[in-house]
Amino acid sequence: MTETVTVRVPAKVNVQLAVGGARPDGFHDLANVFLAVGLYDEVTVTPADELRVTCAGPDAAQVPLDRTNLAARAALELARRYGVEPAVHLHIAKDIPVAGGMAGGSADGAGALLACDTLWGTNAPREELLDICAELGSDVPFSLVGGAALGTGRGEKLRPLEVGGTFHWVFAMAERGLSTPAVFREFDRMHEGADVPEPVASQDLLDALAKGDAGSLARTVSNDLQPAALSLFPALADTLAAGRAAGALTALVSGSGPTTAFLAPDAETARTIGRVLLASGTCRAVRVTESPAPGATVIG
Ligand code: C5P
Repeated sequence: MTETVTVRVPAKVNVQLAVGGARPDGFHDLANVFLAVGLYDEVTVTPADELRVTCAGPDAAQVPLDRTNLAARAALELARRYGVEPAVHLHIAKDIPVAGGMAGGSADGAGALLACDTLWGTNAPREELLDICAELGSDVPFSLVGGAALGTGRGEKLRPLEVGGTFHWVFAMAERGLSTPAVFREFDRMHEGADVPEPVASQDLLDALAKGDAGSLARTVSNDLQPAALSLFPALADTLAAGRAAGALTALVSGSGPTTAFLAPDAETARTIGRVLLASGTCRAVRVTESPAPGATVIG
């Protein structure tokens, strides 16, 4: 039997996040265009006496190590379905910002699921892995598949999208995190009494992705959660302005935030934007990277 398995899982940015009104179950229908970016967590699973989670990385102190961690929940659910003892040590090497709007927790769920499926030899069909992912959280299925996809429903129903080129991104990490439920609650508060339209994917945006055309993508990105994130974290407006002034084609909040995302015309401009953003003092750290990136992958 394999003694240890490591899976690498990407972060995401939402190039479109169209949000509908609150549903009776409290979730919101979305038209969510996910793009996986080259910023990764690695989940390593090793047989142990009992289920245990550890985490290393700059944000590790903020990661829960109990059974609320999506990595632990993924292992428990796969074990339950296949009658396996969930006796494993899950170690998360964390590089994706915590509570940052880049699906870091979801990445760990998808990574642990694939790692345990490989370690235990359960060989669950892809459909079943996706089903477990959807049970764990709205963004978890995308963490498994990566690339680019349109998520509908609460974001968990995926249609893969074509991406015709490489996009260059800069991400600015904020001084503190934002809670996704709190941002959705703020969205609801800001739309109280209003008729929120059905979320629909923008065809112009899907065409820009398919062409790999950064200029067209910049003109069509949108994030309906951005006003809510800015309302809870007004200083993000300064980060967005600093990145725009440094040459970004567009600047937006990533998902529910507070990480901000800057699309650059090329790799060199991306590095310049990164340097200027860091020097601006409006963020804690920056990362320069590319998209699309592959989904959860066994690397060892
Ligand atoms: O699905 P997930 O557990 O990641 O969602 C976290 C929270 O984000 C939910 O509890 C809900 O408050 C909010 N959410 C939402 N509509 C979605 C996805 C998430 O309201 N489509």
